[in-house]
Amino acid sequence: MPRPTKTPLSDSLKQLVGQPASAIDTPALVVDLDAMQRNLSRMAEFCRKHEIRWRPHAKMHKSAVVARLQLHAGAVGVCVQKTAEAEAMAAGGVTDVYISNEVIAPQKLARVARLAHALAGEGGQLAIAVDSREGVERLAQAMDQARRDAGTGAGAVIDVFVEIDVGQGRCGVPPGRAAVQLVHEIRRHPALNFAGLQAYHGKAQHIRGAAERREAIGRAAADAAFTRRLIEDEGVKVGLVTGGGTGSMVCEAASGVYGELQAGSFLFMDADYAQNERDPAQPQFEQALFVKTQVMSTGLQHAVCDAGHKSHAIDSGLPKVHDPDGTLDLDYGNGGDEHGILRPARAGVAMPEIGRTLWLVPGHCDPTVNLHSHMIGVKGGLVDGTVDRIIRVDARGALT
Ligand SMILES: Cc1ncc(COP(=O)(O)O)c(C=O)c1O
Repeated sequence: MPRPTKTPLSDSLKQLVGQPASAIDTPALVVDLDAMQRNLSRMAEFCRKHEIRWRPHAKMHKSAVVARLQLHAGAVGVCVQKTAEAEAMAAGGVTDVYISNEVIAPQKLARVARLAHALAGEGGQLAIAVDSREGVERLAQAMDQARRDAGTGAGAVIDVFVEIDVGQGRCGVPPGRAAVQLVHEIRRHPALNFAGLQAYHGKAQHIRGAAERREAIGRAAADAAFTRRLIEDEGVKVGLVTGGGTGSMVCEAASGVYGELQAGSFLFMDADYAQNERDPAQPQFEQALFVKTQVMSTGLQHAVCDAGHKSHAIDSGLPKVHDPDGTLDLDYGNGGDEHGILRPARAGVAMPEIGRTLWLVPGHCDPTVNLHSHMIGVKGGLVDGTVDRIIRVDARGALT
């Protein structure tokens, strides 16, 4: 497997390891490694208890080192959304990768097919989702071309999941006959292995009420079970139904239909997920991802910190000011690219003084990580802890 050259970490970053967390310059993306490890253990335990496979989504952390930690904890492999993310994971030693998304451009499919061959050569496996006849045909052509280019006999086989739209209104064929037809298309090609159904309901993840989430996933599971039955009535085994995110994973796990969970955000969490009503069956995931920031200016009724939306994504709302002991009840307001405006959330709350360090909880973890080339891993607490490691965001900007 060709390993892309990595930009070396700067000396100042390397020297940070072993330093107190207070030495981290701002703004910086910081991972509370103790909280992350607890999230990882709780997820692993949940999946063991429910006897369900676990393939976390690496589109969230985009880091091969973190992916390997997840594999070590019991994950069967990782999901990614993009070919370039799959390449970054493979380059970082992750050999079981599922692109849980459709890939259509021939130049990308050529990369997918090359990667499938490279991973197979290392005893690994690549998988991909499809939702169109064109997608299947083009993937098959790319796989055949890669086999010819490699000059090997049988060549690699790629696992293919048919995506059904179970309520998100994004990719996927409607549940039912359309999926059966695609399965037949896939089975015409020896380099493609029909591996099962992808039934991910993205919209359900952020339904706030636990009962409403259960209802939505109940319908998704019924659609997946119906589609599976139609396919199996034609004598074709459906090896796996895969899906589920952090918001709904307990519902997929209890459905008896899904055999694999794809949750990603559980590892770091974010302010958006914090608004979901917790399902009693859901493991207690903790906030592990923070933007460290500093108050750089104060006005009569506000303070300004040095983290704006170049430091954190705002698609799911502005960050929250981390307030573990209830003394920092501040609202974060948009101050533009490089600034955040802080105001007391209620009367009687003191404004933070100039120079004060604050920790922000990003609205949405995935696109926040993608804004940074590295994350700083801290052990022993955000305030009194020590920098333990620098984690590269290997797939930062890996959009193709
Ligand atoms: C196909 C697919 N599976 C799984 C996930 C993981 O969801 P989460 O990060 O909310 O756990 C996503 C996230 O967008 C996704 O698109």
